Amino acid sequence: MDPFAIPSTFTTTFALEYGVSEVDMRRLYENAKRDQWNATRDIPWADAPSPDGRVIADELVDIYGSPLWDRLPEADRVALNRHVAAWRLSVLMHGEQGAMLACSQMVDIVQGADAKFFQATQVMDEARHNEVLSRYITDRLDGLKYPMPANERDIFDSILSESRWYLKTIALQLVAETFAVSLFKMMSESARDPVLGTVCKRILQDESRHMGFGMLSLPKVVSEASEAERRELEDYTCFALEKTLLGFFPLEAYQDAGFSPAQIDEAKRYRRETAASNDYAPFRKYFKRDLHGSMVANLARLGLLTDRVRPRLQKLGVTLPAS
Ligand SMILES: [Fe+2]
Ligand SMILES: [Fe+2]
Repeated sequence: MDPFAIPSTFTTTFALEYGVSEVDMRRLYENAKRDQWNATRDIPWADAPSPDGRVIADELVDIYGSPLWDRLPEADRVALNRHVAAWRLSVLMHGEQGAMLACSQMVDIVQGADAKFFQATQVMDEARHNEVLSRYITDRLDGLKYPMPANERDIFDSILSESRWYLKTIALQLVAETFAVSLFKMMSESARDPVLGTVCKRILQDESRHMGFGMLSLPKVVSEASEAERRELEDYTCFALEKTLLGFFPLEAYQDAGFSPAQIDEAKRYRRETAASNDYAPFRKYFKRDLHGSMVANLARLGLLTDRVRPRLQKLGVTLPAS
């Protein structure tokens, strides 16, 4: 995989006053220092894998429960489980690199020492997440690494070339990290490889702090925005929601697991039908409910669940409370 370049320009502010001025933000920084962990030392890398070789719960494989799945021999189910896990963890791993790059820009752009200090901790956190997922794939999934899907690349192209911190924060700490919190929570509870469970639990602790940065820093921006600025905030929120919530089909994972084009079409059809009827296996049902619930609550708390945003959220399948 070749690295790619994203041109960016932004203004770096030198803080010069280093005392505490935002108490809550400084507390978040203190928590970040207190809760640092080390992917080399704090993950039980030597622990045995699951006896049957599964990594994630079968329920997280799109075709679980379909006639296609029911026809698969046990060995093929395990192989698909591992390929889909590798594909999904690759998406997350690339996202961690993107988050690290975005936060390193934010250290420069955000105003005041409290926010800069906190962003510096998030750069370290995201480096560790990138490292731990890469090591997981190398050590436990035979190095099976997949490229970045187009949707993910679009969102990071946008975040990293954007010069304003609060738009980066809307896409990263608000939308992507609210998603990450629900996802890592579900994965830590459902993992079949106990090492993956520990990795997800560790990452989750950091992600909730990152989501906290958005919840502390965005209210002032939203409340002080002019009408035109507010529309821009809303539109950017919807752009990030659409890129994040529409989901990606792990095509290459199915191909590598030996599925024919006809079987892949059947898998895609089953996935669409499941989404339309909202008939997900239990773990996925909890995940969706948890994700949609916290997304709606966070947007409402920030004043972004407006009449312009609500219909676009509904189009993404999110159930909204009555306004
Ligand atoms: Fe992360
Ligand atoms: Fe994060």
